[in-house]
Amino acid sequence: MSVILRTNHLTKRYGHRTVLSDLSMTIYEGDIYGLIGKNGAGKTTLIRMAAGLASPSDGSILLFGKPDLLQGRKEIGTVIESPALYPGMTARENLITQCKLQDADPAQIESILSLVGLGDTGAKKAKHFSLGMRQRLAIAVSLIGNPRLLLLDEPTNGLDPEGIREIRNLILKLNKERHITVLISSHILGELSKLATRYGILHHGVLLEEFTENELWERCSKAEDHDMDLEEYFLQKIGGN
Ligand SMILES: Nc1ncnc2c1ncn2[C@@H]1O[C@H](COP(=O)(O)OP(=O)(O)OP(=O)(O)O)[C@@H](O)[C@H]1O
Ligand SMILES: [Mg+2]
Repeated sequence: MSVILRTNHLTKRYGHRTVLSDLSMTIYEGDIYGLIGKNGAGKTTLIRMAAGLASPSDGSILLFGKPDLLQGRKEIGTVIESPALYPGMTARENLITQCKLQDADPAQIESILSLVGLGDTGAKKAKHFSLGMRQRLAIAVSLIGNPRLLLLDEPTNGLDPEGIREIRNLILKLNKERHITVLISSHILGELSKLATRYGILHHGVLLEEFTENELWERCSKAEDHDMDLEEYFLQKIGGN
């Protein structure tokens, strides 16, 4: 299995505060890696560092097995917190602009629009999209340039169940059909458990544990309390605080 993203003892400090501490994680090719952690755990900070939007205080990052991060980041797509879209532009215009910015081939635009379910939005401007449509457009923008890795920071935040399902199905499709490796963060384990193949539990800036989908199910079924669900397992891990 080839390594797509690895952090070695990654640490981030703001002033005297350590917000990520000695974090070593590995994402393998083909993973949908679910990064689970409560508000303030450090999810966005970790993703921003992987994307090159913040620099580590200590430790290092390897992308695609190499320390050349400038090269590696050309093969990463990101959607971090509020997506950067042009509200006065249509979906298609947003993608055309992104192609120009990245000097990418605009021939891919139509297939990306239909992949994310925005092929028939015509002259409608992004500012008139629903939150779910905006989130799917942000994912579409991140797909320009054919990334091998997508970093998605809480992409379902604020969406209704239908919007959540659409994003989930899209991520599964990107992973299965386009062979894109995905890092997705969330504070809701139950939501990640419908798509993640591997997990990392982040708590107060510390990666408590990494495990696979199968390991998670095994642990839940071996627990003395047979009714324990995923959410409880998570709460137990982080000591409920
Ligand atoms: N630029 C910054 N300067 C100072 N502190 C920061 C900065 N960015 C983040 N922090 C702090 O780092 C900690 C981790 O924040 P981060 O946004 O990474 O958490 P998160 O897991 O993404 O939380 P949420 O679920 O609320 O999005 C928080 O305590 C936050 O206040
Ligand atoms: Mg965050």
